[in-house]
Amino acid sequence: MTVAAILDILCRVSSGGILSIHIDLLTEPTGTQLHDWHQVLAAALGHDLPGDPVPSHDDVSTRLTTPNAYSRKLLWLARNTSGAPVGTAALRLFDEPGRSHLASLELYSHPAHRRLGAGSRLLATAVDAARGDGRRSLITRTTVGTPGDRFLATRAFTPALKLTWRRLRLDTTDAAMIGGLAGEPHPGYRLEAWEGVAPDDLIDAFARAKQAMADMPTGGIDFGTVPWNAERVRSVFEGFAKRGEQLITITAVSDTDGSMAGYTMLAVPAGGTGRALQYDTAVVSGHRGHGLGRWLKASMIQRVVAELPGVTEIETDNADDNRHMVAINAGLGFVPVRQTVEYQLSLAE
Ligand SMILES: CC(C)(COP(=O)(O)OP(=O)(O)OC[C@H]1O[C@@H](n2cnc3c(N)ncnc32)[C@H](O)[C@@H]1OP(=O)(O)O)[C@@H](O)C(=O)NCCC(=O)NCCS
Repeated sequence: MTVAAILDILCRVSSGGILSIHIDLLTEPTGTQLHDWHQVLAAALGHDLPGDPVPSHDDVSTRLTTPNAYSRKLLWLARNTSGAPVGTAALRLFDEPGRSHLASLELYSHPAHRRLGAGSRLLATAVDAARGDGRRSLITRTTVGTPGDRFLATRAFTPALKLTWRRLRLDTTDAAMIGGLAGEPHPGYRLEAWEGVAPDDLIDAFARAKQAMADMPTGGIDFGTVPWNAERVRSVFEGFAKRGEQLITITAVSDTDGSMAGYTMLAVPAGGTGRALQYDTAVVSGHRGHGLGRWLKASMIQRVVAELPGVTEIETDNADDNRHMVAINAGLGFVPVRQTVEYQLSLAE
């Protein structure tokens, strides 16, 4: 018998609202289901992370319905007897070689309907599905000190990686310091930048540099490894464009052999306003220790300030033991705002 079935029986013999929860698997989400999904998500984020921007309805719908070349999503929406949406679960099943053992989960329960079992039911449903699909590990993320953190503490999940999120407010940035760092000469290297997909003449070199992210600290997470090539770069970068996000990449190219020594990537939300998200910053191992990481990031900040006046802040996350990146960010003026934990559940019987 599955975990979900056992839980179901336990729920039936107990009393309370839990009896009344109904979970639908959304194969092709309707407009109403997408609306209800957004309602749960917006309420949960507004409650747990007050002051943080909540993704728009369109943003959420696009993320849920846009196919991904390397993973599939299973979506469940939970309702109570009145038909009110009370929880959502999105299980991502990675299909690419090197990651087909892994699934990731995003689970939300509406703050007005918590502690009634919706979270547990949705979790059990997703765990069953991941296990049924032959997955070995399930990962999920919570913010330290929120109900999600306390919920997972009661489960068999283990904390595998702690990340600190830092934010740089662009209206208080020290422009002279950033300009000085961005303008510092780095003999033997030049900067190249682009928006969206990497240009054809740089895409192979970029894919090789992307591989350098593989030695980023990932704690005990069973991430697996995925090979980067031009096709994967195109596909992943096009994903940003489909969501209306503007992806800016700045790279440091070696004058000696034209190879890419490092890069940094930043995504600007649709509409070009609000909070931009820092993605990878990586320097290929043979080029480390020359200040390229700081140069790349300072150049990115300078570019955003100069060209994107609607962007008010940049947010970035680093593993706590990634001391070089943490030091670079602190030096640039990023300040810690919260901590998250990547939790992992082993699905091996
Ligand atoms: C995590 C979350 C989904 C839990 O939803 P929920 O519907 O309240 O979960 P349940 O009612 O099934 O809770 C089951 C048990 O988890 C524990 N738990 C849940 N929330 C808790 C809290 N705030 N404090 C302490 N324990 C908590 C309790 O043991 C609870 O059982 P109890 O109510 O009988 O004591 C919800 O808080 C949420 O949406 N958080 C934001 C999203 C998030 O962090 N998701 C990541 C987790 S995968």
